[in-house]
Amino acid sequence: MIDRALLARAAELAADHLEAVGERHAGPLAGHAELRAALGGALPGAGVPAEDVIEALARDAPPDLVASPGPRYFGFVTGGALPAALAADWLASAWDQNAFNAVSSPAAAVVEEVACGWLLELLGLPAESGVGLTTGAQMANVTGLAAARGALLARAGWDVEEHGLTGAPPLRVLAGEEAHVTVWRALRLLGLGRSAVEVVAVDAQGRMRADALASTLAGDDAAAVVVAQAGNVNTGAIDPLADIVAAAREHGAWVHVDGAFGLWAAASPALAGLVAGAGEADSWATDGHKWLNVPYDCGVVAVRDPAAHTAAMGMTASYLVRAGESDRSNSDWVPEASRRARGFAVYAALRSLGREGVAELVERCCALARRLASAMEAADGVEVLNEVVLNQVLLRFGASDAETDAVIGRVQEDGTCWVGGTRWRGQAAMRVSVSNWSTTEADIDRSAEAILAAARTSVT
Ligand SMILES: Cc1ncc(COP(=O)(O)O)c(C=O)c1O
Repeated sequence: MIDRALLARAAELAADHLEAVGERHAGPLAGHAELRAALGGALPGAGVPAEDVIEALARDAPPDLVASPGPRYFGFVTGGALPAALAADWLASAWDQNAFNAVSSPAAAVVEEVACGWLLELLGLPAESGVGLTTGAQMANVTGLAAARGALLARAGWDVEEHGLTGAPPLRVLAGEEAHVTVWRALRLLGLGRSAVEVVAVDAQGRMRADALASTLAGDDAAAVVVAQAGNVNTGAIDPLADIVAAAREHGAWVHVDGAFGLWAAASPALAGLVAGAGEADSWATDGHKWLNVPYDCGVVAVRDPAAHTAAMGMTASYLVRAGESDRSNSDWVPEASRRARGFAVYAALRSLGREGVAELVERCCALARRLASAMEAADGVEVLNEVVLNQVLLRFGASDAETDAVIGRVQEDGTCWVGGTRWRGQAAMRVSVSNWSTTEADIDRSAEAILAAARTSVT
């Protein structure tokens, strides 16, 4: 029997949380030990009534939640959840569709097809590309690079899907020094290994140097994949994609763009110039749960050649009946079989924002990042380490790593906002990533004050 009261109560608890999240401490308040004590213990022998389970979770977990849906959580690259996307995600859970293919859920297949078409259009990618919705950019990188591996080796006369890598012709992988850590993991998973990668030099912002790429490529004629980046996780810098594609084309190399958040610049007419050339690449990875502000988990992979995409990901079995040939099979485009119908939230986000809304969201986050950077530049003892081209700001305080680390600790303790730390070019730095749809100028100003107050406290 459907327990309407339980669902209504859960909705009420969720709304209470979201209403308060903007004013609560931006980081966790309780320690893990308290949470373990409250929620842990032995698995109950007899079941506990559902309403008691939900009440206990909603009472005990929140002190150890981070305020990541809120407007002043600037850690990692963290989007919130747009109202329409969150509501659609609730429906996706209630509908509990297996988004595997158009037989397991025709609705999930059709809605995902529509949303994927809109994504290609917004991101300026070729309309014929294959598109899949993954758990995140990590698996989007795995998928794009798997397609690259298969297509390049097929050109060299080797079927990697059939024979694996043992005995395969050489495959070169070139990536910038600043390639994201998930690219390295993707290459490990694909059997391409870390030490096989030819690392290409980057400039002071972390952008791959196209001249260095061209000279590295010139050294060898073997099939090659070049992994470019749109949006360095620290600086936000975007590789010179048009030049990279041009250099790669000279050698028949495949270009994969890891654009977990930076590719969204393409959705803004004002910022699209930053990713000029991206649409000429061969495969792309990005995220929905970052800048599109859909709930976790949602990444996007696109591959220009849909046949290469499905060759890497597709699978068949006699019981896995398919709908008509023209019906989308979501599983053909990702390394997962059964999965949640994350397309509903993507569809809802895109439809509720429209093209103009997505552009405005991306532009607003960038303007807010610049606003924070300006406030910091005007203060003594604070250095903005990066060119603020996108939504990322890197800050350094005082003259030592210890001072910067201390300021980060003070900001986290204060809780007005949450920022993380990193090392940039060997120096400690504070990372601020403005990626949430609900962040306002007032949130930035409050956060700037809190950061500067923490800096004053740490120095005295
Ligand atoms: C450039 C880049 N690539 C890949 C990723 C991995 O994304 P996800 O954690 O969604 O898998 C990130 C995450 O910040 C990123 O910035």
